[in-house]
Order: sequence, then C-alpha cells, then structure tokens
Amino acid sequence: MQLSDIKLGQCSSTASPDPRHPVQVIAVTGGKGGTGKTNIAVNLAQALANEGQSTLLLDADLGMANVDVMLGLSATHTLSDVLNGQCTLEDIVIDIDDKLQVIPAASGIKELADMKQQGCAGLVRAFSDLKHPIDFLVVDTATGISECVASFCRAATEILVVVCNEPASIRDSVAQISLFSSEYGISRFRILANKVESANEAQGLFRTIISRFNDNHRPQISFAGYIPIDEHLGKAVRQHRVLVNAYPRSRAAMALRHLAGRVIDWPQPEYAGGHIEFFVERLVGNENIETEVMS
Ligand SMILES: Nc1ncnc2c1ncn2[C@@H]1O[C@H](COP(=O)(O)OP(=O)(O)O)[C@@H](O)[C@H]1O
Ligand SMILES: [Mg+2]
Repeated sequence: MQLSDIKLGQCSSTASPDPRHPVQVIAVTGGKGGTGKTNIAVNLAQALANEGQSTLLLDADLGMANVDVMLGLSATHTLSDVLNGQCTLEDIVIDIDDKLQVIPAASGIKELADMKQQGCAGLVRAFSDLKHPIDFLVVDTATGISECVASFCRAATEILVVVCNEPASIRDSVAQISLFSSEYGISRFRILANKVESANEAQGLFRTIISRFNDNHRPQISFAGYIPIDEHLGKAVRQHRVLVNAYPRSRAAMALRHLAGRVIDWPQPEYAGGHIEFFVERLVGNENIETEVMS
C-alpha cells in the first residue's frame, strides 16, 4: 500500500468553494512533561472555536496521547488507519461542535512525522479535502527534543513553548529552543508561562529564559502571555470537560480566552501551498514551500 493510495474523503466533489485562506498552525510544545501542554492545546482550541474560528486539534503525542481522555472521546480509528488506507482522514476526525474538530492521533503520529516527501501526495490531498476549511490547526506535541516533536514544530507557523517557573522546566525549554534553532533551523518561538501566580512572575520567568541565550545567537523569542495556576483546571479534567466551557469565569479560563484573542491577532502566515496541505508538505520536508509572515 502506497501512501498515495490513501482513500480520500467523500466530500471532495460536494464541498463548498474553498476560500483557501492560510491556516495558522500552532504547535504547543515544551521541554518538560507536566507543564500543561495538553490542557493549553485543548482549551486554546476550544476558545478559538468559541470565537467562531474553525479549529482542528491534532493530538501528536504518541506516548501520552490524552486529548481524547481529556475530552472523554473514544476513538475507533486513528491516523495509523489512514496511513494504512483503512479509512479516510474524514473518518477519524471527531466533531466536538460546529467549529471544533479533533484528530485523536496516538498511533500513526510517528509514521506521519517520519514520512518521506515522495509518499505523501495522498495524505496531502486527504488533508486538503477535509470537509470544513479550517482557520487554525492546534497541535499538541509530545515533550522534549525528539525528531518527531521537531518535525511538528518545523511544520508549524507558530510555536508556543509552555514553561513553568521551576528550574527543570526552564532548563529543558532552553535546551529545546536551542536545539530546534541550531539543528532544525526554527527561528521563532513564543513563550507561554503556565501555573504562575501573577503577571510579574510570568515576566520574570520570560526574562530568565531570554538571559540564558547568548545575544549573538538568540532565536526570536517573544512573550505570549501567561495562564495562572488554578484548581478549576484539574476539576474540569476530572469531569472530562474543557475548562473554558466548564468554568468560564475561572482565572485560568479567562486567561485562556485572552490568549485565544491574541492568537487570532497574530500576523497571518502567507505561503505558497495556500491551505492545510501546506502543513503536511512541510512535515515531510518539501523544501519548495516558503513561508513568510505578513506584517
Ligand atoms: N494553569 C494550571 N493550573 C493548575 N493546574 C494545571 C495548570 N496547567 C496544567 N495543570 C495541571 O498540570 C498537569 C499536567 O498538565 P498536562 O496538560 O497534562 O501537561 P503536559 O501535556 O505538558 O504533560 C495536569 O494535572 C493539569 O491539570
Ligand atoms: Mg500532554
């Protein structure tokens, strides 16, 4: 079975005209586990959807896939089945509501990240034939510096590095940013401080990270904001609910809504591929695709 044999969705001939606007692909990552990546990816995706943005959430954490657990989903098919030609991408996408869809990945993610350019035409078409044109693709990556995580970050248009104010999280995030910029040519990162008590603490954390880089070799690192430590988050998780919907007035939910508002205002990416297939093309290292950010 060739990847180019992957069955395409049923919808390609019936889909409404595709505006082909650029998709903002946000990789939510971090050097260390337990910093809150999955919670932030899920809530950011939901908050974007609540703002009317068509959003697709891709669970790209092979080892600790838990977007589905968090949302109380039970997936019968995975990306692995798509790559094997057993079903279409449409078959595995779960509609959470009008604006939010989830690809509950787990198995198949490593194959996707390892896939080589020549084999990907079918998958690129499968992605581009998704029924709803999407505005945002939020990718919940695994932790750390593996090639798989790097591939997803390299394919993204924005990278959100989730950091907590503790030495191991700071050290591992600095290591991740350093390696991704030196080895993978990734030049822009946004730091999101999580589980902090105040804006001051978050800004101090950001300054600490910046100070770990040599001025001459520093990638572009900006501050994306912060999410306060909030017990409502754990409460929502235990109820298999999404915080921004379950406890919309909690401090963390309000911060996540603000984050979504800022994310919507980030500069739009502009790229030759024009749509979501761009993401897969970049994932497999198609060097012909250029991105630039509109100012
Ligand atoms: N802002 C926060 N306030 C309180 N607890 C949080 C916050 N963010 C994450 N957590 C908790 O931290 C733990 C790890 O979160 P998770 O999203 O699974 O991290 P990761 O995906 O980075 O491993 C979970 O128990 C989660 O409820
Ligand atoms: Mg996680």
